Amino acid sequence: MSWHPHSWTAFEARHLPHYEDAEALSAVVGTLSNYPPLVFGGEARELRERLAEVAQGRAFLLQGGDCAESFAEFHPDNVRNTFRVILQMAVVLTFASKRPVVKVGRMAGQFAKPRSAPTETRDGVTLPSYFGDNVNGLAFDAQARRNDPARMVRAHLQAAATLNLLRALSGGGYANLRRIHGWTLDFMARSRWAERFNDLADRISEALDFMEACGVDPDNVPQLRSTAFFTSHEALLLPYEAAMTRREPDTGEWFDTSAHMLWIGDRTRFAGSAHVEFARGIGNPLGIKCGPATDPDDLLRLLAILDPARVPGRITLIIRMGADKVEELLPRLVRAVRQDGHPVVWSCDPMHGNSVASSSGYKTRPFDRVLREVRGFFRVHRAEGTHAGGIHVEMTGQDVTECIGGAVAITDDELKTRYETHCDPRLNAAQSLELAFLLAEMLNAQAADRSRDAA
Ligand code: PEP
Ligand code: CO
Repeated sequence: MSWHPHSWTAFEARHLPHYEDAEALSAVVGTLSNYPPLVFGGEARELRERLAEVAQGRAFLLQGGDCAESFAEFHPDNVRNTFRVILQMAVVLTFASKRPVVKVGRMAGQFAKPRSAPTETRDGVTLPSYFGDNVNGLAFDAQARRNDPARMVRAHLQAAATLNLLRALSGGGYANLRRIHGWTLDFMARSRWAERFNDLADRISEALDFMEACGVDPDNVPQLRSTAFFTSHEALLLPYEAAMTRREPDTGEWFDTSAHMLWIGDRTRFAGSAHVEFARGIGNPLGIKCGPATDPDDLLRLLAILDPARVPGRITLIIRMGADKVEELLPRLVRAVRQDGHPVVWSCDPMHGNSVASSSGYKTRPFDRVLREVRGFFRVHRAEGTHAGGIHVEMTGQDVTECIGGAVAITDDELKTRYETHCDPRLNAAQSLELAFLLAEMLNAQAADRSRDAA
């Protein structure tokens, strides 16, 4: 059972690209192994501790960002806009739940994608599918679709620059609650949820005025002028992840330093998977995507492999059943895990089970289905007496038109105007904020239930 960062190579690896030039691949792995870590083990451990609070029902997890980051969309405005929408959502959720919100971006490393088909055919031409910008290119031509290991180096540099900006944004004054009014995006002004947000911002500013009069202000309380922000992505491209995995000198513990949190996708969490083998050896908090095919006994076996010591905060189960199935399929997972005594975080991914083809041919997600899955997820936890601990969304701070519906009422016909995603459709800024307000109502109800139970 000995583990090392490359021990996964002896296991069955699905959804990993084949590189024609094995020497070029090992040269890239060698290069990356000597590059600086993006995060430290201590930071990953801190996230694990915060997630332990979520597991115990004392905090809420907000995880969001692109389905696939891309080289083409890399721009400081895009990073900042997504960051600020996550901040806005977190403020809404904190205000409603009166509990800390743990903020984790699908950012600074979320490049690699599992695909349902290895090839794509257009007008009689068949080429390899697009597997994410760190593997090959989106353009439908043979040259772009070739797997190129050098793309991993570019992805690492982009992740480093993105993370650097995120660290500056979260610690350098931008996230100061005194600047809350400045977080509103211009194009959001036409959404009534932007108005709701401004009302909330007024109330928070008033509370800050009061606290300042009592001597509590951002100058002496760092939590008011900065925020903790963590990064995450799917640990799919194992040669990259292994190259970024380092041993912490003082503890000897291994951490994947490419992000604070890593998750295993729904297609790679099977027994005997190379991805599971890799994940079991790293100390980072782990997510496990659980789709409709998740068998409760398989899940318990997986938990025993990935978290034998049952460390609270180590495992987040990211449930993505689809709006129609969540209430039927989630209860048996909740019961099995509860009986087993495993201290997991339960998080809801209302995106991946709710993709549909629009009549205009776009892959989209209707906002009402997204919302319906979140409501179903909360109902199950209420009935089972467990804690609905988090949300995992594909979203962006950009004004895209990829998901239909919401108060901004994007129609089928409008999808083509700004459909920019490299992979799955994302909630835009207004839809994300709307989701946060609706989620806040559910968190309020959950908190009211709890205080009734306590009384
Ligand atoms: C994803 O999160 O982008 C993804 C591919 O999800 P899943 O593994 O749940 O299908
Ligand atoms: Co996706």
